[in-house]
Amino acid sequence: MGSGDTLKIVVFRGSPRREGNTDILLGEALKAETGGNELIQFTLNDMNIRPCQNCGGCDETGSCVLADDMDDIYSAIRQADRIIVASPIFFFGLSAQTKIVIDRCQSFWCEKYLLKKTIPSGPHGRKGLLILVGGMKKDTGIQCAGATATAFFRTISVPEHETLGYLSIDRKGAIRNHSSALKDAYEAGVRLFTHNN
Ligand SMILES: Cc1cc2nc3c(=O)[nH]c(=O)nc-3n(C[C@H](O)[C@H](O)[C@H](O)COP(=O)(O)O)c2cc1C
Repeated sequence: MGSGDTLKIVVFRGSPRREGNTDILLGEALKAETGGNELIQFTLNDMNIRPCQNCGGCDETGSCVLADDMDDIYSAIRQADRIIVASPIFFFGLSAQTKIVIDRCQSFWCEKYLLKKTIPSGPHGRKGLLILVGGMKKDTGIQCAGATATAFFRTISVPEHETLGYLSIDRKGAIRNHSSALKDAYEAGVRLFTHNN
């Protein structure tokens, strides 16, 4: 975790569409990071991450037995003061790229709920931000993806997070025409990166 007056910020870019709506909102939120913090970004679509095999290999140790690009993510999650998950809604849920990472965090679930060990927080606590964009009017996707992301944040010992969810945004870049979304994202970033030191 960051020490003193710096934050370690970990970002999960969950859309396969580069510079699409999710990326645009994420970019606005990150504009609120004015330097001095450590930013680690994972573009999940470019990473080599296998799905959880439910092999039970983490049950007694809290450590996943698979070896792939999740190794870097496990380490970043442990050290994070702030975590941003940004995903489009696909079939009423998170993108597969995002969900695969969350499922692989079953090892943190074992660590927390079976081994009774939470990830310790630094002086600024652990906080999250969830950014969701869907093309449909129906909010089922926000509800379902939101429930999954909440389970994820709690499992990795992030006790509080804010959610920004936008619907009826489909065409690449359409979020730029939304009346408040870019400003909302920036302001959520300001809240996320504000700390007392
Ligand atoms: C495979 C796939 C499934 C989708 N399913 C949904 C859905 O269930 N609900 C919804 O609101 N939008 C759905 N969409 C629309 C995307 O969420 C929408 O285009 C979004 O703006 C994409 O964000 P991006 O530009 O960041 O990738 C789907 C799109 C794709 C490609």
